[in-house]
Amino acid sequence: MNSPLSPAWVALAEHQKQLATFRMSDAFVEDAERASRFTLDAAGLVLDYSKHLIRPQTMSLLTTLAAERGVTTKRDAMMAGERINTTENRAVLHMALRNPIGAARTYAVDGVNVAPLVQHELAHMREFTERVRNGEWRGYTGREITDVVNIGIGGSDLGPQMVCEAMRRLVLPRMTAHFVSNVDGAHLESVLARVNPETTLFTISSKTFTTQETIMNAKSARAWFLARGGTEADVAKHFVAVSTNTKAVREFGIAADNVFGFWDWVGGRYSLWSAVGLTIALAIGMDGFDELLAGAHAMDEHFATAPLEFNMPVVLGMLGVWYNNFWGTTSHCIKPYAQDLHRLPAYLQQLEMESNGKSVDLQGNALTVPSCPVIWGEPGTNGQHAFFQLLHQGTSMIPVDFIAALDGGPTMQDHHRVLLANCFAQSEALMVGKSAAVVRAELAASGMSPEAIDALTPHKVFHGNRPSSTILLPEVSPRALGALIALYEHKVFTQGVIWNVNSFDQWGVELGKQLAKKIDGELQSGNISSTHDGSTQALMRRAIR
Ligand code: F6P
Repeated sequence: MNSPLSPAWVALAEHQKQLATFRMSDAFVEDAERASRFTLDAAGLVLDYSKHLIRPQTMSLLTTLAAERGVTTKRDAMMAGERINTTENRAVLHMALRNPIGAARTYAVDGVNVAPLVQHELAHMREFTERVRNGEWRGYTGREITDVVNIGIGGSDLGPQMVCEAMRRLVLPRMTAHFVSNVDGAHLESVLARVNPETTLFTISSKTFTTQETIMNAKSARAWFLARGGTEADVAKHFVAVSTNTKAVREFGIAADNVFGFWDWVGGRYSLWSAVGLTIALAIGMDGFDELLAGAHAMDEHFATAPLEFNMPVVLGMLGVWYNNFWGTTSHCIKPYAQDLHRLPAYLQQLEMESNGKSVDLQGNALTVPSCPVIWGEPGTNGQHAFFQLLHQGTSMIPVDFIAALDGGPTMQDHHRVLLANCFAQSEALMVGKSAAVVRAELAASGMSPEAIDALTPHKVFHGNRPSSTILLPEVSPRALGALIALYEHKVFTQGVIWNVNSFDQWGVELGKQLAKKIDGELQSGNISSTHDGSTQALMRRAIR
């Protein structure tokens, strides 16, 4: 199990060589069923993965690999509450956060059903968010809350922010959600410049409540509040916290009633379904938040029950492994053709790269094959006018996930049609390309001289045969978005199992934090330690004023 070079791995490597001359466009001609053969429906989403460098045999070999690596047993172990996050000795049960009351499946840690904990916290969220939204909860001068400022970073920021942006149409008209994550004071300053202390609620969101950026921003926000008329007694009306560390929250001075909890079996980057989603619920209401949970739950059930070959997250995960490990790709592009999903690439960067950006396996041995690729992207159509040149004609092959909603909403429907046309055109162009013969014919038809045609043709050729998936949502609704996020969560899990890494720890963030603390102390004191390298010492000297 330690070595990925199992029989299925070797067979896939052999199979990849046989596909050296494979052309996707030809495969569509040879197989009239290809589009439907490689399309899956699950939890309201459609995944078309027919524009990939695959034959049916590829998928069965990848499925054999996934089975051989234990995707099914490890999935079941995760869902059974086993402590699969071994380096932190924690269970991984974010699925429990979206398991509805009365569901057949129960999630338990150490034999204890976690549903009552989850339902209690959801009820607390509902009670609080309804009071804020209906105007019963008021600020210190008796005015209704109009602005929520979420202070958090990483998983305590990216998910809530991404969802709030995506759900902009559902946000309570009088409410604006703001997000402050960066320790750069410019971030907090720019948000505070837009809000009024009398009508602003701060949600301090931090799993650990020790994160430097969040605590510093929270303290500065409180100081701002106190300097603008609020008193210590008023803090309770304007500051709430979401954390697993209730002791630290109390020490910070937030009233016990204003603390929303969650548990160590919820990883930071998997936490938007917990009270970390409080800002989402404040913005769109608890019914909308429940819809988000319902969409994710539908995907959980699909992941838990569908055979590997027809399991949407597993298929997405296996395709990623196919390119990463057998075609040598090193990055993966996320292209939401939905402006409302513009923060999705940033969200997926943390989800995928913090989970699977590892170089040792679960047993601590060095990996002998590459793990997570670089995840990046921008919404379409903007990327088309920026980096698509490289996707189409650059020297590297970069698989793309195109994500689009079939219904763009009631307004500007002609815009939505053009958006979808562009989305479909890009995946088609990546696959079909344009041959030298076609380029020549086009240039000749435009009246160009043969010499000029010779000179220009190589620049206008698209080799094509570049892979992409297309994921269709019915619309950008809470339910569809919930399903989409859960799809990627389980994709990440699948890949983590295939690479045999722990997808649920993040030790790689620690060293920088340690050094930043040390350097900050030295910048404050002005005493630069000679233990730093020459470059760091010189940079520090420039920063001391
Ligand atoms: O430093 C990385 C990290 O621990 C992430 O995993 C996490 O989402 C983020 O920091 C924020 O952590 P916290 O919610 O504990 O403030």
